[in-house]
Amino acid sequence: MATQPLRNRPAYQALTEHHAEIEGRHLRDLFAEDPTRGERYAAEAAGLYLDYSKNRITDKTLNLLAQLARESDLEARRDAMFAGDRINVSENRSVLHVALRMPKGTPLVVDGTDVVAQVHDVLDRMADFATRIRSGAWRGHTGKPIRNIVNIGIGGSDLGPVMAYEALRHYTDRNLTFRFVSNVDATDLAEATRDLAADETLFIVSSKTFGTIETLTNATSARDWLLDQLGDPAAIAKHFVAVSTNTERVAEFGIDTANMFGFWDWVGGRYSMDSAIGLSTMLALGPEQFGQLLAGFHEMDEHFRTTPLERNLPVLMGLLAIWYTDFFGAASIGVMPYEQYLKRFPAYLQQLTMESNGKHVTLDGRPVDYQTGPVYWGEPGTNGQHSFYQLIHQGTRLIPVDLIGFAQSLNPLRDHHDILSSNVFAQALALAFGKTEQEVRAEGTPEAVVAHRVMQGNRPTNVLLAQKLTPHVLGALVALYEHSVFTQGAVWDVDSFDQWGVELGKVLAVAIIPELSSTAEPELGHDSSTNALIRRYRALKA
Ligand code: F6P
Repeated sequence: MATQPLRNRPAYQALTEHHAEIEGRHLRDLFAEDPTRGERYAAEAAGLYLDYSKNRITDKTLNLLAQLARESDLEARRDAMFAGDRINVSENRSVLHVALRMPKGTPLVVDGTDVVAQVHDVLDRMADFATRIRSGAWRGHTGKPIRNIVNIGIGGSDLGPVMAYEALRHYTDRNLTFRFVSNVDATDLAEATRDLAADETLFIVSSKTFGTIETLTNATSARDWLLDQLGDPAAIAKHFVAVSTNTERVAEFGIDTANMFGFWDWVGGRYSMDSAIGLSTMLALGPEQFGQLLAGFHEMDEHFRTTPLERNLPVLMGLLAIWYTDFFGAASIGVMPYEQYLKRFPAYLQQLTMESNGKHVTLDGRPVDYQTGPVYWGEPGTNGQHSFYQLIHQGTRLIPVDLIGFAQSLNPLRDHHDILSSNVFAQALALAFGKTEQEVRAEGTPEAVVAHRVMQGNRPTNVLLAQKLTPHVLGALVALYEHSVFTQGAVWDVDSFDQWGVELGKVLAVAIIPELSSTAEPELGHDSSTNALIRRYRALKA
């Protein structure tokens, strides 16, 4: 796409001028001027209600942001993704996670292949396998049913499965135990397996490339653990399955490819939780509820694909992220779910957002002269309120926050849920409107502490509200952030689907591994700091 450089786009220039007007305006005044603001600046899709009224915006801001999206060819780029064009330019790949949740029979032919038919073939195999495990029809090496499932993977092959398992725990088969091993730190595997019986345990080795050292190291040790207990290499076929795009490497590792669930190079790791990488999710939920998760994704996809930009939830959220990142200089965005089951959601979002938009050149390789991906972070409410919210309320940095709430609890108990939810609304209110000097004085505050107790407000929030956390709502929520990331990447004109930056560290680590156990001299051709650290490590290790 040949769009003009961001700073040359007329809407960007107009937004720069407009920002100078908006910067001095307070949300108190914006609300006072328009009593309908709270209803006007709200949009809804796929079971999610978004209140974006407590943002530092006016109608003009929204018009200019939508114009910026148009001048950035957002709609054409979006359509190119849905059509299977190779929009991941640095890897020359299509980006088709949206095909993973298209209903059976939807025609989508890419390079002569019906990708939706491929997707459903794998989904059907996964469903058959999940049904056999859940019903006990699949037997382990000693004839016992499987009771424990351990997913081994890292990055996108871990964060989605863990997040979805935790988020949807309420809907899972409680007779099955799920564990997730990602870190190559042996503690992760040791703690995950220490109380499990090997003959009742299934390992899912999840790796798109099947070349990731952490995952292969953990999988090898898991295989040793299994063989230590069961003795017979024939047990592997009953206790190991693989999820990967790489059949050869799966076979090389010793997993029968009949026990492999495939996906494709057009699924990015951080966009793969609804592919076969979601096998543990399907085992936990069963095929039907997994289908509801996919339906939630798809409903948000359709909303993103067909809704005018001005009412399009992911577009609005993406454009607001750009507004704060590039015009207000905000460096981070907080995401605070007021739902304990979503405790891993911020961690999941960190890979989705930061691996996608942590980029410093445009699609054609020119260095950008504006900020790209903000830092995403968060913790569930209300816990965060009692640790870091102070800085958001009264610190010197502007931190836009997404607050995610639900009207119904999955574990209703006395008045817990209203107490929890009142905090969603109270935080958005306090952040927006703060507390003036006048109000502080009126409380009889001693003059010496008035300044300390003043809260400036004017801190922006989005509030996302859904009825309750279900598989469908989770799918919609993840797709909402996926497409918000897409919107941001389109405006910044970056490749949101590669991750070259993580490669250098991997290569260097592989070079250093043998040096840590070697005693050979002369040694260590690194810089003096790395050399000294390695020498000290060797000395402490001995
Ligand atoms: O190191 C980053 C990364 O490449 C992620 O993008 C990916 O999700 C993760 O590693 C795991 O890769 P794989 O699924 O191939 O093991």
